[in-house]
Amino acid sequence: MKALVLAGGKGSRLLPITHTAPKQLVPVANKPVLFYGIESLVAAGITDIGIIVGYTADEIREAVGDGSTFGADVTYIQQGKPLGLAHAVLVARDYLGDDDFVMYLGDNFIVGGIEKLVEGFREERPDADLMLTRVEDPRAFGVAELDDDGRVVRIEEKPAHPVSDLAVAGVFLFTPVVHEAVRAIEPSARGELEITDAVQWLIEQGRKVRSTLITGYWKDTGNVSDMLEVNRSVLEGLEPCIDGKVDADSEIIGRVRVERGASVSGSRIVGPVVIGAGTSVTNSYVGPSTSVAENCVISGSEVEFSIILEGASIEGVGRIEASLIGRQSQVTHAGRTPRAHRFVVGDHSKVQITP
Ligand code: TTP
Repeated sequence: MKALVLAGGKGSRLLPITHTAPKQLVPVANKPVLFYGIESLVAAGITDIGIIVGYTADEIREAVGDGSTFGADVTYIQQGKPLGLAHAVLVARDYLGDDDFVMYLGDNFIVGGIEKLVEGFREERPDADLMLTRVEDPRAFGVAELDDDGRVVRIEEKPAHPVSDLAVAGVFLFTPVVHEAVRAIEPSARGELEITDAVQWLIEQGRKVRSTLITGYWKDTGNVSDMLEVNRSVLEGLEPCIDGKVDADSEIIGRVRVERGASVSGSRIVGPVVIGAGTSVTNSYVGPSTSVAENCVISGSEVEFSIILEGASIEGVGRIEASLIGRQSQVTHAGRTPRAHRFVVGDHSKVQITP
């Protein structure tokens, strides 16, 4: 069995971060989202992994390499344009050959792994197996209708009137019959070849499409609030560890990891928090659910429930909350006069100010 990990796409919901870096590499507790996915595939015994890449191919290749650090054998498959999840299966036809495969969305986060899902599929070998999860508002998802045996009888993408609260999560298992389906369907109204249409085609052909309901945590990290929420959830399980320097004037409370080469002085850190290697935190407060990446500077500031990417500095500002700060960004105090905010804000940025 192979895996097809989708790490292309447009990433428009995570702009401006995705102007310069793939969303699949945004760190959660200081590790790229994509790495969690690759690790769970390897844990399920799947080491032959094809990664679909788009305009951020170089960054993904540099981060994942040949896969050997994960115990996997990675092949990159270039998708010319992000024309949909089913289009990604089309372009991977040669790589996938006649093998069964797991399709894994590279920006999705699943706690609890996929071992049971893969095991169930191997035992029964339906034509497709969908991972489902209950959601509060199914209108933003692919929604499945099941019969009493858990067999999928209908699937609909973003329905206005959902028939159930069962959303299709980011992992699918397929036999090679899906290649016929992705060739048979037409682009949707948004111009993409939808994987849900391919699955609906299988159902209409009388193929066996079953489902596995997961009770664990699943999230698509495609937008900032979900990304922060995933980060919060992963940090809950953080192993505390102080490898960096913490001075006597600082206070560390709860689950906190201070990585090697990081320094904390005159500050209060209330976990769960991770402070990356080479980062310095001075005269500041870093509060729960915050990940600070490597080589950042936080001084004279307060940060909570946020993700700070590599090399960013936050100096002399008040309290920052629910924020995603990009690499090498600077959020600093503007000086005393005139009393005004000053910005150099990149395209598609969002700035919210409390005067
Ligand atoms: P999405 O998040 O649905 O699509 P997107 O990346 O284009 O994002 P946005 O809606 O914010 O513009 O994609 C799910 C995953 O699949 C994600 O890791 C990107 C990947 N993907 C591809 O590899 N190829 C594609 O054609 C599409 C649409 C997505």
